Amino acid sequence: MKGDLANMPRIITREEAWSLLTEFTQSESLRKHALAVEACMRTCARKWGSGSQDDENLWGVVGLIHDFDYERWPSPEEHPYKGNEILMERGYSDEIRRAIMSHAEYSGVTRDTPMEKALFACDELACFITAVALIKPGKSLAEVDARSVRKRMKDKAFARKVNRDDIINGAADLGVDLDEHIAFCIEAMKPIAKELGLDGSAAKTPSAPFKNDVQA
Ligand SMILES: [Fe+2]
Repeated sequence: MKGDLANMPRIITREEAWSLLTEFTQSESLRKHALAVEACMRTCARKWGSGSQDDENLWGVVGLIHDFDYERWPSPEEHPYKGNEILMERGYSDEIRRAIMSHAEYSGVTRDTPMEKALFACDELACFITAVALIKPGKSLAEVDARSVRKRMKDKAFARKVNRDDIINGAADLGVDLDEHIAFCIEAMKPIAKELGLDGSAAKTPSAPFKNDVQA
């Protein structure tokens, strides 16, 4: 029994994950992206996860830290590999590390579990929803719906760095209708709209910063 306990994966608290993210990531837009994906992942956990609080926390942690190494090591040669090494050194579980590795298409790590599939299905979509909200008159999530997102997806010049195929394939692999999944992620992000700067208050400032600098 003692041996079994020793082999149990260490539970990572939300506080620990946030501290890791902010240690390596200073960019406000990248931190907001992390928060957006965390919110989507927590909502996904309630739909596709085991239903336990620990499981929801796990999915949320994965969302929060999936790009934590990107600011320092943005190249595909280093992200998310460098992050994976750091996570290993700090005792993060195989389950967390594998999920993060699998969100980079080029890593060759397959997406097998619902958590891995959800991360891929939420990552680029969260970026895109944010971009759509920021061009609305009130710069708020309240003005965004699945229709407006789908319309913008057809505009190749808009948020060019966000990969449309990843959004489409991510939802398909998760086994969910794309419009449904877009609406689902918008709703998941709304409770933290203020933290994301998408509650309408940004419209009152002359220029809301948004760098579309997130990949994979
Ligand atoms: Fe990301």
